[in-house]
Amino acid sequence: MKNKAKLYAEDVRKVLIIGGGGREHAMGKKIHDQNPSIELFFAPGNAGTAMLGQNIRQRTIGELRQFCLSREIDFTIVGPEQELVQGITDDFLANDLAIFGPHKAAAALEGSKVFAKEFMHKHGVKTAAYHTFRHYVDAKRFLENNHTYPLVIKADGLAAGKGVIIVHDSFEAQNAVKDLMRNEKFGEAGSQIVIEEFLKGYEVSVLSIYNGHEIAPMISAKDHKKIGERETGLNTGGMGVVAPNPLFSEKDMQAFVKDILQPTQQGLLQDNLQFSGIIFFGLMVTSFGIYLLEYNVRMGDPETQAVLPLMQSNFLHQLIAAYNGEALDLQFSQQHSCCVVLASGGYPGSYQTGFEIRGISQVQSQVIMAGVSGSEGHYKTAGGRVLSIVSVADSLATARQKAYEDAAKIRFDYAYYRKDIGVV
Ligand code: AMP
Ligand code: GLY
Repeated sequence: MKNKAKLYAEDVRKVLIIGGGGREHAMGKKIHDQNPSIELFFAPGNAGTAMLGQNIRQRTIGELRQFCLSREIDFTIVGPEQELVQGITDDFLANDLAIFGPHKAAAALEGSKVFAKEFMHKHGVKTAAYHTFRHYVDAKRFLENNHTYPLVIKADGLAAGKGVIIVHDSFEAQNAVKDLMRNEKFGEAGSQIVIEEFLKGYEVSVLSIYNGHEIAPMISAKDHKKIGERETGLNTGGMGVVAPNPLFSEKDMQAFVKDILQPTQQGLLQDNLQFSGIIFFGLMVTSFGIYLLEYNVRMGDPETQAVLPLMQSNFLHQLIAAYNGEALDLQFSQQHSCCVVLASGGYPGSYQTGFEIRGISQVQSQVIMAGVSGSEGHYKTAGGRVLSIVSVADSLATARQKAYEDAAKIRFDYAYYRKDIGVV
């Protein structure tokens, strides 16, 4: 790869954010609030990002590259994983376009669970015991000799968050493996699988910024992934987040740094996988210590909505520093945030859209949009996760109370939200 030219923050005037969810609205809002003169573009964006800048039509990597070259975009930030796994960073850097996010080889830390587990194992990153399989017969034979359940079966590739199956007996296990490897339920993503030990504990998300040699962690967050209260029902993209995670102590943070962050940092260097981008650690805290479940190479959604409002450092300037390989300085307020996601009734199954959204102007908290179409005064639902309400306060209890007071002001047909976000 060519040597990149240093990017000076004061020269950055036009920024493109790729993606169109709540995460991208939250990143755009933070950048806009901290740097009001920056011109923002979003591909494709949503009704929320349209208030901060311009939503553009370009979709493919080639179209996005052309847009950035012709419109002289100074810096591109990639929200979702797909473009990273496809190699947008390699393409942009080869064309002298400044972009924040890992190149294709490093994006495999998220794009391939086999690659990620082998990386963790090789570098002593604490993770669940596992086996990988490339052939159906080998996985089947392994299960015939296994008598310990539950087990976790994972498709290797990206499967829209649905490629992880927890199985409780050999019947379920054999079916899951057959679905993935024989019936190709997730296509090519299931051609290899990981079978791993089930870990019992609670989950914590830690986002971080990587500058190519140092990983700087942000405050921890607690995602609520299930549709139902008390973590029941189907998995979703995330129904709410609080930050910092009230269960994750300073001591836990230190154990995470020692057992997971540092070996990752050394491993990236050793394997020549340096990049500038986000590393999102999906952790499981157990009575035997803290384990890494997965790496993501992009910000979490909705973790971003809850974490960024607490960031005191200039977010865009930190991303530019990381791009330049310069030292990072991430400062956070001592406050707490609570993000409650309002969804369309039926989500994560089928749901209807096109319902009028009322009450947004009465809300004091931040309103971060995801599945919303239209413009001020004429907003309509357009997705499963519609919008989120984000409140910040000196205590978690007050942040929760404010978020729920405001959530109750928003009205659309069949609106649904969990009432227990942040309940410990
Ligand atoms: P992943 O995509 O690997 O993070 O897995 C998605 C979800 O599956 C995680 O957020 C956990 O809720 C669950 N999960 C993954 N691996 C394990 C494991 N080894 N033990 C228990 N739960 C797991
Ligand atoms: N909230 C989990 C994720 O972004 O993957």
